[in-house]
Amino acid sequence: MRWLITGSGGQLGQCLVASVQARKNESLAGALDHAEFDIAKPGALEGLLRTGAAGEPDVLINAAAFTAVDRCESEEALAWRVNGEAPGWLAEDCGAEGLAFVHVSTDYVFSGTDSRPYPENGSVAPRTAYGRSKAEGERRVVDLLPEALVVRTSWVFGPGRNFVGSILRQARQRAAGEEGGPLRVVSDQSGSPTYAADLAEGILDLATLAFGPKAADARAEATDSDRARPREERGEMRGVFHLANSGSTTWFEFARAILDEAGYADLGIVPLATDELDLPAERPRWSVLGCERAARLGVGLRPWRDALRAYLGSASGMALREEPV
Ligand SMILES: NC(=O)c1ccc[n+]([C@@H]2O[C@H](COP(=O)([O-])OP(=O)(O)OC[C@H]3O[C@@H](n4cnc5c(N)ncnc54)[C@H](OP(=O)(O)O)[C@@H]3O)[C@@H](O)[C@H]2O)c1
Repeated sequence: MRWLITGSGGQLGQCLVASVQARKNESLAGALDHAEFDIAKPGALEGLLRTGAAGEPDVLINAAAFTAVDRCESEEALAWRVNGEAPGWLAEDCGAEGLAFVHVSTDYVFSGTDSRPYPENGSVAPRTAYGRSKAEGERRVVDLLPEALVVRTSWVFGPGRNFVGSILRQARQRAAGEEGGPLRVVSDQSGSPTYAADLAEGILDLATLAFGPKAADARAEATDSDRARPREERGEMRGVFHLANSGSTTWFEFARAILDEAGYADLGIVPLATDELDLPAERPRWSVLGCERAARLGVGLRPWRDALRAYLGSASGMALREEPV
């Protein structure tokens, strides 16, 4: 299949590009970063495809988003346009041009007040501008292109600015004597850290199952009685999936693991309550996503601590699987 990636300069976007390039039978029709392609313009994708500037893709994966959750509170109109409206415009253009579409979303669409993993069909109740905008994006994609996949994830780290890098920077500053005292990290938020390289592989695996040659053959061979059965029963894939590295932790425990794995076992951390931070956007106390739908199809990501080790051991921040599917 030929893949087109928007938001290719982001953590996930970079990993998607690397994963497609590493797979034998896949090709990259185009990788568009923010400077090359602004998703927040109606009809932009259709225009681009008509010029042939993005090759002849079969599948679009949208990894572009306005992800600065605190800035989304003060720049809500921009968040709404990029995260809420633009995915709908992309879905419409994909429908018009016959492309399959995968859109990426977040745990922030949930209230974050629960204590059991959120199922894929759990009630959406965002409490931040970022979460509301992302929930709107999902809603539009599913309404406008029901065949699309929406993949929610959480706590992403990969090539780019992220929590792991921030903890390591603070550790280096202390080791160099530039800063003193222990690190302070919140201990009352739980989630599943997710390595962007693993997420990219999982997304490509899901999209291949949904839109690849085998899925096309099955659709072509389906009889009228097959088509009369409910979609889930006949294995047709569409709608919302969750993908995150397995297991869960708190930011505090995650920071401890980062320091231990990176050789800073002696550096102390002090637990902090979320309320002590007084940030513009409310933080979900519970971000754990249940990934059963993907797991039933044989797509699952390794435990988060193994993923962290792989990330720390990879110079590029993109340790790819040794034998890509
Ligand atoms: N990071 C997380 O912890 C996390 C957690 C859950 C879900 N997610 C979701 O996962 C996906 C990927 O996130 P990520 O971590 O890879 O984020 P990221 O590193 O911030 O990458 C997002 C990319 O989108 C670009 N972008 C922003 N506005 C754009 C626009 N109007 N048109 C085109 N590109 C635009 C950004 O470019 P600029 O930097 O130039 O603006 C950036 O390169 C997003 O859908 C996000 O909502 C992320």
